[in-house]
Amino acid sequence: MQKDIFDRIIVFFEGIRQQTGEYLYFEEMPEQFEATAVPKVQKTEERTIKKAPIEAIKIEESKIVEIKQPQPVIATPTLLDEKVAPDWQQAKSLDELLNKIKDCQKCPLGITRTKFVFGEGNPNADIMVIGEAPGADEDLQGLPFVGRAGQLLTKILESVGFRRQDVFIGNINKCRPPGNRVPSKNEVEACEPFLLKQIELIKPKFILALGLTAANTLMKSNYKMGDIRGKLFNYNGIQTLVTYHPAALLRNPNWKKPVWEDMKLLRKLYDEYIEKTKKE
Ligand code: URA
Repeated sequence: MQKDIFDRIIVFFEGIRQQTGEYLYFEEMPEQFEATAVPKVQKTEERTIKKAPIEAIKIEESKIVEIKQPQPVIATPTLLDEKVAPDWQQAKSLDELLNKIKDCQKCPLGITRTKFVFGEGNPNADIMVIGEAPGADEDLQGLPFVGRAGQLLTKILESVGFRRQDVFIGNINKCRPPGNRVPSKNEVEACEPFLLKQIELIKPKFILALGLTAANTLMKSNYKMGDIRGKLFNYNGIQTLVTYHPAALLRNPNWKKPVWEDMKLLRKLYDEYIEKTKKE
Protein backbone atom coordinates (compact mmCIF):
# COMPACT_ATOMS: atom_id res chain seq x y z
CA MET A 1 0.00 0.00 0.00
CA GLN A 2 1.29 3.51 -0.80
CA LYS A 3 2.70 5.29 2.26
CA ASP A 4 0.58 8.42 1.87
CA ILE A 5 -2.64 6.43 1.58
CA PHE A 6 -1.64 4.50 4.68
CA ASP A 7 -0.92 7.76 6.58
CA ARG A 8 -4.30 9.15 5.62
CA ILE A 9 -6.07 6.01 6.79
CA ILE A 10 -4.31 6.44 10.14
CA VAL A 11 -5.59 10.03 10.33
CA PHE A 12 -9.10 8.84 9.50
CA PHE A 13 -9.05 6.25 12.28
CA GLU A 14 -7.47 8.72 14.71
CA GLY A 15 -10.56 10.85 14.17
CA ILE A 16 -12.81 7.90 14.87
CA ARG A 17 -10.77 6.98 17.93
CA GLN A 18 -11.23 10.48 19.33
CA GLN A 19 -14.96 10.24 18.94
CA THR A 20 -15.48 6.62 20.01
CA GLY A 21 -12.62 5.79 22.36
CA GLU A 22 -10.09 3.00 21.98
CA TYR A 23 -12.39 0.11 21.10
CA LEU A 24 -12.31 0.60 17.35
CA TYR A 25 -8.63 1.45 17.22
CA PHE A 26 -5.44 -0.61 17.10
CA GLU A 27 -2.22 0.81 18.46
CA GLU A 28 -0.13 -0.80 15.72
CA MET A 29 -0.75 -2.73 12.55
CA PRO A 30 -0.85 -6.48 13.19
CA GLU A 31 2.61 -7.96 12.74
CA GLN A 32 1.66 -9.64 9.45
CA PHE A 33 1.45 -6.20 7.86
CA GLU A 34 4.73 -5.00 9.31
CA ALA A 35 6.56 -7.46 7.11
CA THR A 36 5.52 -5.35 4.10
CA ALA A 37 6.97 -1.95 3.20
CA VAL A 38 4.37 -0.21 5.38
CA PRO A 39 6.10 2.02 8.00
CA LYS A 40 5.50 1.35 11.68
CA VAL A 41 2.94 3.60 13.30
CA GLN A 42 4.40 6.12 15.75
CA LYS A 43 3.35 5.55 19.35
CA THR A 44 1.68 8.34 21.25
CA GLU A 45 1.92 8.61 25.00
CA GLU A 46 -1.82 8.39 25.48
CA ARG A 47 -2.40 5.03 23.80
CA THR A 48 -1.47 2.21 26.09
CA ILE A 49 -2.98 -0.91 24.54
CA LYS A 50 -0.63 -3.79 25.31
CA LYS A 51 0.27 -6.46 22.76
CA ALA A 52 -1.15 -9.92 23.45
CA PRO A 53 1.58 -12.44 24.38
CA ILE A 54 1.34 -14.14 20.97
CA GLU A 55 4.50 -16.20 21.43
CA ALA A 56 2.81 -18.16 24.20
CA ILE A 57 -0.07 -19.38 22.00
CA LYS A 58 0.62 -22.54 19.99
CA ILE A 59 -1.66 -23.18 17.01
CA GLU A 60 -1.52 -26.13 14.62
CA GLU A 61 -0.17 -25.07 11.21
CA SER A 62 -3.33 -26.26 9.41
CA LYS A 63 -5.50 -23.97 11.57
CA ILE A 64 -3.58 -20.80 10.82
CA VAL A 65 -5.67 -18.54 8.64
CA GLU A 66 -3.74 -16.37 6.30
CA ILE A 67 -4.64 -12.70 6.77
CA LYS A 68 -4.59 -10.74 3.55
CA GLN A 69 -3.62 -7.08 3.18
CA PRO A 70 -6.72 -4.96 3.90
CA GLN A 71 -8.25 -3.21 0.93
CA PRO A 72 -7.79 0.59 0.95
CA VAL A 73 -10.58 2.35 2.84
CA ILE A 74 -12.56 4.72 0.64
CA ALA A 75 -13.30 7.63 2.97
CA THR A 76 -14.92 10.94 2.17
CA PRO A 77 -12.69 13.46 0.37
CA THR A 78 -12.83 15.76 3.40
CA LEU A 79 -11.21 13.22 5.65
CA LEU A 80 -8.61 12.06 3.17
CA ASP A 81 -7.70 15.48 1.84
CA GLU A 82 -5.05 17.26 3.93
CA LYS A 83 -6.38 20.56 2.54
CA VAL A 84 -3.00 22.20 2.87
CA ALA A 85 -1.68 23.83 -0.30
CA PRO A 86 1.21 21.65 -1.50
CA ASP A 87 3.42 24.74 -1.88
CA TRP A 88 2.74 26.17 1.59
CA GLN A 89 6.45 26.13 2.42
CA GLN A 90 7.02 28.68 -0.33
CA ALA A 91 4.74 31.26 1.35
CA LYS A 92 6.38 34.68 1.40
CA SER A 93 4.22 36.28 4.09
CA LEU A 94 2.18 35.28 7.11
CA ASP A 95 -1.05 36.11 5.27
CA GLU A 96 -0.08 33.87 2.38
CA LEU A 97 0.90 31.10 4.79
CA LEU A 98 -2.41 31.39 6.63
CA ASN A 99 -4.35 31.09 3.38
CA LYS A 100 -2.44 28.01 2.38
CA ILE A 101 -2.82 26.11 5.66
CA LYS A 102 -6.04 27.37 7.30
CA ASP A 103 -8.16 24.41 6.16
CA CYS A 104 -5.61 21.85 7.36
CA GLN A 105 -6.85 18.33 8.07
CA LYS A 106 -3.45 16.74 8.62
CA CYS A 107 -4.37 15.52 12.08
CA PRO A 108 -7.65 14.66 13.84
CA LEU A 109 -7.79 18.08 15.51
CA GLY A 110 -8.76 19.43 12.09
CA ILE A 111 -12.02 17.51 12.41
CA THR A 112 -12.88 18.61 15.94
CA ARG A 113 -11.80 22.27 15.83
CA THR A 114 -14.19 25.18 15.43
CA LYS A 115 -11.57 27.63 14.13
CA PHE A 116 -7.96 27.33 13.06
CA VAL A 117 -5.86 29.52 15.38
CA PHE A 118 -2.94 30.74 13.32
CA GLY A 119 -1.58 33.27 15.83
CA GLU A 120 -1.63 37.06 15.78
CA GLY A 121 0.51 40.10 16.25
CA ASN A 122 3.28 42.02 14.58
CA PRO A 123 4.51 40.12 11.49
CA ASN A 124 7.97 41.65 12.07
CA ALA A 125 7.99 41.16 15.83
CA ASP A 126 11.29 41.01 17.70
CA ILE A 127 9.62 38.79 20.28
CA MET A 128 7.57 35.71 19.56
CA VAL A 129 5.54 34.19 22.38
CA ILE A 130 4.74 30.52 21.90
CA GLY A 131 2.14 28.59 23.85
CA GLU A 132 0.82 25.04 23.59
CA ALA A 133 -2.51 24.94 21.78
CA PRO A 134 -5.77 26.88 21.65
CA GLY A 135 -8.31 26.41 24.41
CA ALA A 136 -12.10 26.77 24.22
CA ASP A 137 -12.21 30.57 23.83
CA GLU A 138 -9.43 30.58 21.26
CA ASP A 139 -11.15 27.80 19.31
CA LEU A 140 -14.36 29.84 19.14
CA GLN A 141 -12.70 33.13 18.22
CA GLY A 142 -9.85 31.86 16.05
CA LEU A 143 -7.39 33.97 18.07
CA PRO A 144 -4.59 32.90 20.42
CA PHE A 145 -4.59 33.54 24.15
CA VAL A 146 -7.92 35.34 24.49
CA GLY A 147 -9.35 33.34 27.42
CA ARG A 148 -8.43 33.75 31.08
CA ALA A 149 -4.86 32.57 30.57
CA GLY A 150 -4.59 34.90 27.60
CA GLN A 151 -5.76 37.90 29.59
CA LEU A 152 -3.14 37.07 32.18
CA LEU A 153 -0.52 36.79 29.43
CA THR A 154 -1.44 40.29 28.22
CA LYS A 155 -0.91 41.61 31.76
CA ILE A 156 2.38 39.74 32.12
CA LEU A 157 3.67 41.30 28.90
CA GLU A 158 2.48 44.74 29.93
CA SER A 159 4.13 44.39 33.35
CA VAL A 160 7.50 44.82 31.63
CA GLY A 161 6.34 47.30 29.02
CA PHE A 162 5.58 45.02 26.06
CA ARG A 163 2.31 45.53 24.23
CA ARG A 164 0.45 42.53 22.92
CA GLN A 165 0.28 43.98 19.40
CA ASP A 166 4.06 44.47 19.25
CA VAL A 167 4.91 40.80 19.76
CA PHE A 168 3.64 37.81 17.80
CA ILE A 169 1.66 35.27 19.80
CA GLY A 170 1.35 31.74 18.48
CA ASN A 171 1.10 28.14 19.54
CA ILE A 172 2.74 24.80 18.83
CA ASN A 173 -0.64 23.45 17.68
CA LYS A 174 -3.09 25.52 15.65
CA CYS A 175 -6.21 23.60 16.63
CA ARG A 176 -7.76 22.90 20.01
CA PRO A 177 -7.28 19.42 21.44
CA PRO A 178 -10.70 18.29 22.74
CA GLY A 179 -11.10 18.95 26.46
CA ASN A 180 -7.86 21.00 26.39
CA ARG A 181 -5.75 17.86 26.69
CA VAL A 182 -2.07 18.06 25.87
CA PRO A 183 -1.61 17.59 22.10
CA SER A 184 -0.38 14.12 21.18
CA LYS A 185 3.04 13.45 19.64
CA ASN A 186 1.46 12.89 16.20
CA GLU A 187 -0.54 16.10 16.44
CA VAL A 188 2.55 18.08 17.40
CA GLU A 189 4.55 16.50 14.58
CA ALA A 190 1.83 17.36 12.06
CA CYS A 191 1.62 21.00 13.16
CA GLU A 192 5.12 22.02 14.21
CA PRO A 193 6.35 22.62 10.62
CA PHE A 194 3.80 25.45 10.35
CA LEU A 195 5.25 27.10 13.45
CA LEU A 196 8.77 26.73 12.08
CA LYS A 197 7.64 28.46 8.89
CA GLN A 198 6.10 31.26 10.97
CA ILE A 199 9.41 31.66 12.81
CA GLU A 200 11.23 31.74 9.48
CA LEU A 201 8.95 34.51 8.18
CA ILE A 202 8.84 36.61 11.36
CA LYS A 203 12.54 36.22 12.16
CA PRO A 204 12.14 37.11 15.86
CA LYS A 205 15.19 37.97 17.93
CA PHE A 206 13.63 36.43 21.03
CA ILE A 207 11.30 33.54 21.74
CA LEU A 208 9.39 33.25 25.00
CA ALA A 209 8.20 29.66 25.34
CA LEU A 210 5.25 29.29 27.68
CA GLY A 211 5.25 25.97 29.49
CA LEU A 212 6.94 22.67 28.88
CA THR A 213 5.02 21.56 25.77
CA ALA A 214 6.23 24.64 23.93
CA ALA A 215 9.76 24.47 25.34
CA ASN A 216 10.34 20.75 24.86
CA THR A 217 8.79 20.72 21.39
CA LEU A 218 11.06 23.53 20.22
CA MET A 219 14.15 22.15 21.89
CA LYS A 220 13.42 18.49 21.11
CA SER A 221 14.05 17.65 24.73
CA ASN A 222 12.38 16.44 27.85
CA TYR A 223 13.33 19.11 30.36
CA LYS A 224 11.59 19.90 33.61
CA MET A 225 10.68 23.52 34.25
CA GLY A 226 13.17 23.78 37.12
CA ASP A 227 16.00 22.85 34.73
CA ILE A 228 15.30 25.48 32.12
CA ARG A 229 13.55 28.57 33.36
CA GLY A 230 15.74 31.56 34.04
CA LYS A 231 18.28 30.30 31.49
CA LEU A 232 18.93 31.59 28.03
CA PHE A 233 18.89 29.15 25.12
CA ASN A 234 20.10 29.61 21.60
CA TYR A 235 17.38 28.25 19.34
CA ASN A 236 18.71 28.43 15.78
CA GLY A 237 20.29 31.81 16.58
CA ILE A 238 17.20 33.10 18.42
CA GLN A 239 17.59 33.92 22.12
CA THR A 240 15.00 31.77 23.84
CA LEU A 241 13.61 31.91 27.37
CA VAL A 242 11.16 29.56 28.99
CA THR A 243 8.67 30.41 31.68
CA TYR A 244 5.54 28.96 33.25
CA HIS A 245 2.41 28.85 31.13
CA PRO A 246 -0.10 31.48 32.34
CA ALA A 247 -2.73 28.74 32.76
CA ALA A 248 -0.39 27.07 35.27
CA LEU A 249 0.00 30.42 36.98
CA LEU A 250 -3.76 30.66 37.41
CA ARG A 251 -3.64 27.32 39.21
CA ASN A 252 -0.54 28.09 41.24
CA PRO A 253 0.00 31.76 42.15
CA ASN A 254 3.37 30.83 43.78
CA TRP A 255 4.80 30.82 40.27
CA LYS A 256 4.08 34.54 39.80
CA LYS A 257 7.44 35.50 41.25
CA PRO A 258 9.56 33.29 38.96
CA VAL A 259 7.52 34.46 35.95
CA TRP A 260 8.12 38.07 36.98
CA GLU A 261 11.86 37.37 37.16
CA ASP A 262 11.80 35.67 33.75
CA MET A 263 9.99 38.64 32.25
CA LYS A 264 12.46 41.10 33.75
CA LEU A 265 15.28 39.05 32.22
CA LEU A 266 13.54 39.13 28.82
CA ARG A 267 13.12 42.92 29.11
CA LYS A 268 16.79 43.36 30.04
CA LEU A 269 17.98 41.22 27.12
CA TYR A 270 15.64 43.04 24.76
CA ASP A 271 16.84 46.48 25.92
CA GLU A 272 20.45 45.34 25.48
CA TYR A 273 19.61 44.16 21.98
CA ILE A 274 17.99 47.52 21.12
CA GLU A 275 21.00 49.44 22.49
CA LYS A 276 23.36 47.26 20.48
CA THR A 277 21.45 47.67 17.22
CA LYS A 278 21.33 51.48 17.73
CA LYS A 279 25.13 51.56 17.86
CA GLU A 280 25.58 49.46 14.72
N1 URA B 1 -3.21 28.16 26.03
C1 URA B 1 -2.31 28.08 25.02
O1 URA B 1 -1.28 27.42 25.14
N2 URA B 1 -2.57 28.75 23.92
C2 URA B 1 -3.65 29.49 23.73
O2 URA B 1 -3.81 30.08 22.67
C3 URA B 1 -4.57 29.56 24.79
C4 URA B 1 -4.33 28.90 25.94
